[in-house]
Amino acid sequence: MNHDYQYTPKNGFSKWLDKRLPLMRFADENLLSFPTPKNLNYFYTFGFILTMCLVTQIITGIVLAMHYVPNTLLAFDSIEHIMRDVNYGWLIRYTHSNGASMFFLAVFIHMFRGLYYGSYKEPREIIWILGVVIFLLMIITGFMGYVLPWGQMSFWGATVITNLVATIPIIGEPVLTLLLGGYSVDNPTLNRFFSLHYLLPFVIFGVVILHIWALHVTGNNNPTGIEVKDSKDTISFHPYYTVKDLFAYIVFLLMFCYFIFYNPNILGHPDNYIEADPMLTPAHIVPEWYLLPFYAILRAVPDKLMGVLLMFGSIVVLFFLPWLDTMKVKSARYRPLYKIFFLLFVVSCLLLGYLGAKAPEGIYLFLSRVSTIYYFAFFLVIMPVLSRIEKPLPMPIGISNPAIDSSVYDSGNGVASGAPSYAMDSVNRH
Ligand code: HEM
Repeated sequence: MNHDYQYTPKNGFSKWLDKRLPLMRFADENLLSFPTPKNLNYFYTFGFILTMCLVTQIITGIVLAMHYVPNTLLAFDSIEHIMRDVNYGWLIRYTHSNGASMFFLAVFIHMFRGLYYGSYKEPREIIWILGVVIFLLMIITGFMGYVLPWGQMSFWGATVITNLVATIPIIGEPVLTLLLGGYSVDNPTLNRFFSLHYLLPFVIFGVVILHIWALHVTGNNNPTGIEVKDSKDTISFHPYYTVKDLFAYIVFLLMFCYFIFYNPNILGHPDNYIEADPMLTPAHIVPEWYLLPFYAILRAVPDKLMGVLLMFGSIVVLFFLPWLDTMKVKSARYRPLYKIFFLLFVVSCLLLGYLGAKAPEGIYLFLSRVSTIYYFAFFLVIMPVLSRIEKPLPMPIGISNPAIDSSVYDSGNGVASGAPSYAMDSVNRH
């Protein structure tokens, strides 16, 4: 792939259009011919999978909104109407509800991939920060969407989570009243949540465009974490990665279809098939599975305000990663110590997810506390300390050159303090 490549319109129409609105040039230079590192593995297909998830949620959501009624007296029945009377309504609804789960599954893999290969580090800080913004928006959108069917979990989940706002000193109460449109979760709350649940995916779409724009300025990271140096290190996005992304998406769709067609309710809670009843509190109030790790952190702390702060802190801390982990070597491939702590981090997140569904008492509470401490220690203690003391493994000279640059390691220069200089070369593509 030649970095000095220039798009040339081939026929009369594309020449005409190119002079007026160079759409084809933009698509060709930014998508089809985009120089992409040649060593990307399947973890790098999740960006495309996520884009497809977002599009699926928006399309199915718009169709659902044609039949859904955001009124507390009619919402639950309108969902049943979609399931029974609307043509393929069951398919649209199950695709949307399971689609949310698939979206979160994909985003978790995408984020852990970034953590493992150090994709949040210079020069990709903005890509990462925009990603965290997207993740926050996804959580808010998912939470509000779950309220819409107006089942028992919708109502009680909304009550528990919105009440957390009241713990904030001084502004808590007025903000809560504004959020609810009254003093408890009711019709105005459902209207607000429906309106915002419709709006936010389009905001997410806008931030995704910025996310991919930023990615196209720096270029992709890759599993070695070594920046591409010249055209030998890259291949064009099309056909190599269009085919790879499409294949991965088809495999992902197979799993998605299993849930839609064979087990559409396994990821939801049976209580949400009971209409909301403000006079009847369910035995256990649990959020959707993808919010369980955060719910576990919330309940790990005896003090309510502290729990709320830690729950928000668990996401806010992600914004600061580029400055908490200053080790120049990006990929965990060459960081044996980081690799171990990273694996423990994945285990602690999975454990928090499991514990979020358990009553916060006895051994469950103890483990929630241990996992919460590890979660924060990983970012605030382990990352900064490893940045200073870890000795990375010898690294190849470049992604196309497996030879090890022994001079850097023999001199002892830059090993503990960071990467050999080639690993820090900025992408020189234009
Ligand atoms: C709607 C959600 C999202 C979409 C559609 C999306 C899309 C993409 C795409 C298409 C890429 C390039 C292909 C790839 O590397 O997989 C990418 C890369 C990246 N994304 Fe996302 N993303 C989303 C959410 C997130 C989140 C939540 C984070 C982190 C908090 C994040 C962090 C990153 C990073 C750091 C890269 C650069 C990876 C690298 O070059 O190694 N993204 N994203």
